Amino acid sequence: MLDIQKIRAEFPILSEKVNGKPLVYFDNGATSQKPQIVIDAEAKYYQEINANIHRGVHTLSQLATDAYEISRVKIQHHINAKFSHEVLFTSGTTHGINLVTNGFASILKPGDEVIVSSLEHHSNIVPWQMLCEKTGATLRVIPMNQDGELIMEAFEALLSEKTKVVTVNHISNALGIINPVKYMIEKAHAVGAAVLIDGAQAVPHLKPDVQDLDCDFYAFSGHKMCGPTGTGILYGKEDWLNKLPPYQGGGEMIKEVTFEKTTYADLPHKFEAGTPNIAGGIVLGTAVDYLNNIGFHNIQKQEEKLLEHATKRLLEIEGLKIYGTGKNKASVVSFNIDGIHPYDIGSIIDKLGIAVRTGHHCAQPIMTFFCIPGTIRASFSFYNTIEEIDVMVEAVKKAKTMLS
Ligand code: ALA
Repeated sequence: MLDIQKIRAEFPILSEKVNGKPLVYFDNGATSQKPQIVIDAEAKYYQEINANIHRGVHTLSQLATDAYEISRVKIQHHINAKFSHEVLFTSGTTHGINLVTNGFASILKPGDEVIVSSLEHHSNIVPWQMLCEKTGATLRVIPMNQDGELIMEAFEALLSEKTKVVTVNHISNALGIINPVKYMIEKAHAVGAAVLIDGAQAVPHLKPDVQDLDCDFYAFSGHKMCGPTGTGILYGKEDWLNKLPPYQGGGEMIKEVTFEKTTYADLPHKFEAGTPNIAGGIVLGTAVDYLNNIGFHNIQKQEEKLLEHATKRLLEIEGLKIYGTGKNKASVVSFNIDGIHPYDIGSIIDKLGIAVRTGHHCAQPIMTFFCIPGTIRASFSFYNTIEEIDVMVEAVKKAKTMLS
């Protein structure tokens, strides 16, 4: 059993007041809060070893380089990648996805097909649309059912020898549905397609095993898993990363530059042009250690309790509808109340210190499917409590009374 009060004491922001009320932070899907150990690690980097990496023979540069590369190996082990050079530092999931779609621009041809799911965040729709526009490939969409689950028969019917890429999120940001990604990867590989998994919402809740999944690419952000903003990882299988062209040209991604021709550096540096977020990359390793020390099994147990309690309590409210009622779910509850705009509820409960996200959650096609402008999304982390959920339920009831 986790000692939640002890864990909460490690997150300074959780004892802050917002609008004069104790903060109830249920916007973890947007970004997680940071424990003191992560905040301290960022300051320690700048206080003790700040220098540019992979560039200097001087001691500080070597210390910074070592810390950065140790973090890469830590993350390699965390996601069970075969090689550390398959782990690329990025600025976040969006960067990782765009790196891949940019690479496929030189591979796809008219007549090829890219399959995305109807549960995607805009960052895993728009880059693929841009790629299709550029190459003449066709975008196909896996439909979902009323529970917010992808329809596997429809997915399998879309697959053909024309399919070159399949992309799907591991967990839906808007609904919390966990997709059967391992099954989907196997089916996509059977027709020779590459698969990118958007793991942005999955990594705070589970430890992805990229070799077991057998995905070709797995993109995620650091800031949703207790790490700093502006950090992320793109895992890519070695063969794919060797095949794809570099995303950006610049310093440190080259072997040799002449005005006639430039040759590129080996992995992972071929994809890491320019001075990266060095502190962020190092501190992402600290965040990964922190989560592993708590243990993903413990995290999941706590989050399941929170999800169950929130679902039960919210459904006591008359006229409240939950979106994403599929069985396999992470700790996210997306809901609306009959006749009330989600922003109105969100604004009132914010005055009571409760942070939730309202709107389309950068997933407009999901809102179009349900014929709604948006939802109120409460997304829970292991540091949240049952008592906080009760505070939110009472606040939502109060807002409903005020707005009815
Ligand atoms: N993608 C983040 C969310 O779902 C920002 O809120």
